[in-house]
Amino acid sequence: MLDHIDLADPRFFSTPEHLRVFRYLRDHDPVHWNPDGTEPGFWSVTTYEDCLAVQKDGATFSSAGTNTLGQQRWTGDEGAGRMLTHTDGARHTELRQVVNRAFTPRAIAKLEPYLRSIVRQALEEALEHGECDFVDTVALLPVASIAALLGVPQQDWTLLLRLTTAAFGSADQDVQTSPSARASAARAHAQLLLYCQDLMQQRRRRPADDLVTRLVEAQDSGLLGEEDAMLFFDLLLLGGNETTRHGAVGALLAFMEAPEQWRLLRGDRSLLPAAVAEVLRYVSPSRHVLRRAERDVELRGRLIRAGQDVAVWHSSANRDGRVFQDPDTFDITRAHNPHLALGSGPHYCLGAALAGMELQLFLDELCDLVGSATLLEPPARLASTVINGFKGMRVRLLPA
Ligand code: HEM
Repeated sequence: MLDHIDLADPRFFSTPEHLRVFRYLRDHDPVHWNPDGTEPGFWSVTTYEDCLAVQKDGATFSSAGTNTLGQQRWTGDEGAGRMLTHTDGARHTELRQVVNRAFTPRAIAKLEPYLRSIVRQALEEALEHGECDFVDTVALLPVASIAALLGVPQQDWTLLLRLTTAAFGSADQDVQTSPSARASAARAHAQLLLYCQDLMQQRRRRPADDLVTRLVEAQDSGLLGEEDAMLFFDLLLLGGNETTRHGAVGALLAFMEAPEQWRLLRGDRSLLPAAVAEVLRYVSPSRHVLRRAERDVELRGRLIRAGQDVAVWHSSANRDGRVFQDPDTFDITRAHNPHLALGSGPHYCLGAALAGMELQLFLDELCDLVGSATLLEPPARLASTVINGFKGMRVRLLPA
């Protein structure tokens, strides 16, 4: 069954076959050694219980080197030991405290009315045209959300959308290998960092109630160097962008494939929070995170050596039948849904409440405005081990 299977090969995820392989791994080889292939060898954990255990044990399974599969594993990750996602223990806590307050449900609630207006406008435009690429339709929502928290002025949001798409839209590993795409990504990335530097200078002169001001204060108190602050800006844009965008696209696809669920939600909006949780579980926009063993450790009888990498496939955990009834069914009335789509343990998604709010108001507006949605062609999926997403999804939308 596992001959020729390489979990680090983005092409592995281009068909639903990967779901069958993960089921096999959960049942027969839950701590699996993926030999050298696309990438140097690494371990994979696939059951709910093991994914949770590894993510919670930051002392044994470190984030400090890197936190996903990919080239940075062997060429070195510029964020290693510096970025929030790439630190452990006390330093991680210290960094998280710099930005924590901006992400509480109370802090983000004030963004709701204007985020709702962005979704409404995007859907109305799509309805006017009748047909659209839904990946573009929802693109502004996540960027606008995080841009507002950062304190990026509204007139620059479309610029930021363009730069983030060029800089980070490289989640497709087919695209990443093209030298011209790499060069334009590097250029866009450099522009983003300069943009951040400029905004920090403005906030130093005139502080405001936003995240960029927090980053300036953290530099003044000696917590962050200037480059660290810029990396932080980068991380917040990256973390909040593609995941949420593809979550929204995946949500529409799931509802198109299960129209009875769509009818249920339109008939009873009290199901919205459960629908968001089910979208996160079923779509799992983030496929895995990576940890590095700090010491030799035994897991289910397999010896993981110090220094070896462990991929935590929470996308597989979210389909584990030991925890979720009928795991491959999209069911917004699911009573028990402790999904791991937003991670768990110390690195649990900082933007969890924001992502939840974005997806909830997106679904709410979709219910209000859209009567039916039809796929015009099979969606083009991103070739990525990291993001479960789409290059494009052409749909026809009809008004409610
Ligand atoms: C559907 C949307 C989202 C998904 C599926 C998602 C998923 C995740 C996952 C799985 C992690 C754990 C990473 C790890 O353990 O190494 C994480 C962490 C993180 N997420 Fe999200 N995320 C989403 C939305 C957001 C948003 C809107 C933001 C806003 C900025 C955000 C910012 C972050 C940050 C900064 C971290 C690192 C936290 C830490 O290392 O302490 N995410 N996210």
